[in-house]
Parts: sequence; structure tokens; C-alpha cells
Amino acid sequence: MRTKPPGAESQKLAERLAGIECPAFSRRRAQRAADDPTSLPIVLAAGQGSDLWDVDDNAYVDLAAGFGALLLGHGHPAVTEAVRHQMTRLTQGLGDVYASDTKVALLEALSKLHPTGSARVMLGQSGSDAVTAALKTATLATGRHAFVAFDGAYHGLGYGPLPACGYQAGFRTPFAPQLNPEVHYAPYPGVRGASGDRALSFVKQLLRTEKVAGVLVEPLLGRGGCVAPPDSFLSELTTLAHRYGALVIADEIWTGLGRCGAWLRSEAMGAAVDIICLGKGLGGGLPISACMAPEAVMAGWAQADEAIHTSTHGGAPLGCAAALATLRAIRDETLIARSAELGARARAAFDELLSPCRQVCDVRGVGLMIGIELEDGATAQRAIAALLERGYVVLSGGIGGATLTLTPALNIDERKLLGIGECLREILER
Ligand SMILES: Cc1ncc(COP(=O)(O)O)c(C=O)c1O
Repeated sequence: MRTKPPGAESQKLAERLAGIECPAFSRRRAQRAADDPTSLPIVLAAGQGSDLWDVDDNAYVDLAAGFGALLLGHGHPAVTEAVRHQMTRLTQGLGDVYASDTKVALLEALSKLHPTGSARVMLGQSGSDAVTAALKTATLATGRHAFVAFDGAYHGLGYGPLPACGYQAGFRTPFAPQLNPEVHYAPYPGVRGASGDRALSFVKQLLRTEKVAGVLVEPLLGRGGCVAPPDSFLSELTTLAHRYGALVIADEIWTGLGRCGAWLRSEAMGAAVDIICLGKGLGGGLPISACMAPEAVMAGWAQADEAIHTSTHGGAPLGCAAALATLRAIRDETLIARSAELGARARAAFDELLSPCRQVCDVRGVGLMIGIELEDGATAQRAIAALLERGYVVLSGGIGGATLTLTPALNIDERKLLGIGECLREILER
């Protein structure tokens, strides 16, 4: 580290940002900075692989990787080259009117990822887009309008997924009168002590109304604090939903594409879910997402005379080129297996090092989605600030923000990842 973060340049830029950015983002930071000026955020300047630099030239190990979106790290050569090449060929297609050849290739690759091996695919730009497409797909396929969502879940904040945001009611409250009133919550196993059986019996009650179009579920809660349900949960949930004519939408936006040591976490859990949402890591850093479902489920869209769900940048060639290169690199560099193996080694190492610390409640996760739950959110915030000073970028999630959430690039150097264990122990033992 060249200076204690935030250095002078970061402080100047953070103040400029606070003066112009929508207070949705900067108010919390400003409040924190009023108590402690050194709590202003750093401002990022460059990244390569799992290394990050701020504008004061401090170097960090990036254990957040763009909220988990940089599965290959910053500036992966194959993605960079694919985007550069696409930029020189075709920058923008014409959405649903005239597609690009790159979009056709990506749809074919994604279609094969669905467990049926032949899904139909709808592209979007964000995770929120993919979930919106999934909710509409389930509505059209079933003719029903109600959904089941889970306590602690996060699916994005657009008006489609927002009513299903169980992570924090406060995200929904200001907009409540505008949200789908037919979204009902069930407990998620492992959140606030709920068991798998309790969750399933709750869902059953909701399904009995026979109004439920779909059950929207994360195979492992990401922002909700890296909470993994029992392995059998998703398949039991799927069987139950199908019995009552409802579809299952697996939100694999965070868990998918190797993050949890499998192409799809839902498939690894043995669940034959219907609709699958991908996002985050799909574009290797560019914004692109996908909603995939079997022919029969997607057929509902064919009833409309017009393309009733489209957007200017939907399926744009740059994102498609980046996604194709990302999928290829994950496969060629055998990153799925690496995520499973390195994740298991890292969790075992962190568990051994950190469980003697009284502030550490749990070390958990699957693959390279690793949660270290501390006693409360304030302890986690202090740990995050101290880790930043020592050159680690880490975020938190879960109830009260008490869980340090490590979602590094799948190709991160093992020593770089494991290094945080010793460092966190020193911080907690001070
Ligand atoms: C599981 C899950 N679904 C959906 C989203 C929303 O994605 P986006 O922020 O790209 O809209 C997120 C974002 O963190 C997520 O973790």
C-alpha cells in the first residue's frame, strides 16, 4: 500500500461524487464519512486478473470481483480480444428485428446449458432483466399471476423482481402500492433458523391456492449471506411445485457458470427446474443476462402478435461476443472443477484459522462463493475497513450485513485467496 486508504485522490473524487451522484448511492457513505472522514470510499482506477488499483496507486486483491460478475477476473485476454474483434465487425444489431450472427451463436451455446439441452433463450442486460423475463414467461405459460419467493432472497430491484426481494423489506416499502400484491414469502432453509421441512410445508400452503405461476428461488442465497439449503431442498421444492401446476424459476445469476463449482447449482442439486436465469458473470464484465426455458414453457410468448418484450440493447453483439468468450474460457481453463476444489480448500483453511476467533460464527458456502459470518454488521464493517488497509477488497451481505462474502475470480491465484485468512485473524485478534 502506498497510502492509507482512502488516499488523497480517492478522497477528492469521492467528495466530487457525493456532490453529483443520486443520493440513493451516496447518502449512506456521506453519513459514515461525517463521523469518520477516513471512511470515504476508495475510487478504482485499474484492474488486471484479481488485482485492483485505486487512483492513489494502492494495490488490492479483489475478492469481490464485480459483485461476483468477473468470473475470469479483470481484463481476461480472450474476452478483451473477443470484444475488440466484435467492435471492429459490428457494434450493434437490431434487437428482435435483425439479430447478429454472434447472438445466434450465443443462444445456441446457452440453449445447451439448460439441463434439457435444448432450451429457448431470451437475453437481457441485467440480472433484474432476466428475472423479469422469467416472471413474465411463467405468467404466460400458466395463465396465473401469483409467485412464491423466499425470506432473505435477492433478485434485483427492477419492478419485476422487486416484489420478490426478501432480503430487506425496506427495498420494497416506498414502492409497495405499485408492486405485484400476489408475491408471497416462504422461509428459506437456514435463514432465521428455518428448516427445509418448514420451508416446504409453507410453500405447500401457498401452492394449494392453485394461483401460483412460479416459485422463484436462489439455489443458494447470495446477497442473503451465502446460505446453502439442504441438498435435497431444490428437488423437493420442484416436485411440490409441479404437483400444483407451478413452475420453478432458478435464479442462478450469482450461483451459475461455475461460481458454485458447477455450470448450474440447481442441476448439481438434482433439481429439474423449469426456468433458469443467468447474469452477472455471463458477460465477463459486460452487461448481459439470459432467461432460459424449455420449448413448452416458452411457447406462451408465441401467442402475441408483436415482440412484446424487447429492448434496444437486448442481445447486442458486444455482450454476446464477451459471453461466448467467457463460456469458452470457463470450459477451456477447467474453471468449474477449480471453483469446486479451491473453494473447498479455502473454506477448510478459513474454518481452521478463524473458528477460534470469538467474533466468527460460521464459515460456509459452495465453490467460490464463501461466506464468513461475524457476530454482527458493525464487526463486519470494521473488518472490511481493516482488510482494505491491508490490501483486500471484500463486501458483506446477509442479515444485518454480518457476513463477509468472498466471490473471487475462478482463476484467482490460490495464495492470494488464502492470504486473507491470516490477515482477518490478525484483525479479529487485535
Ligand atoms: C441472485 C441474484 N439475482 C439477481 C440479481 C440482480 O442482478 P442485477 O444487479 O444485474 O440486476 C442479483 C444481484 O446481485 C443476484 O445476486
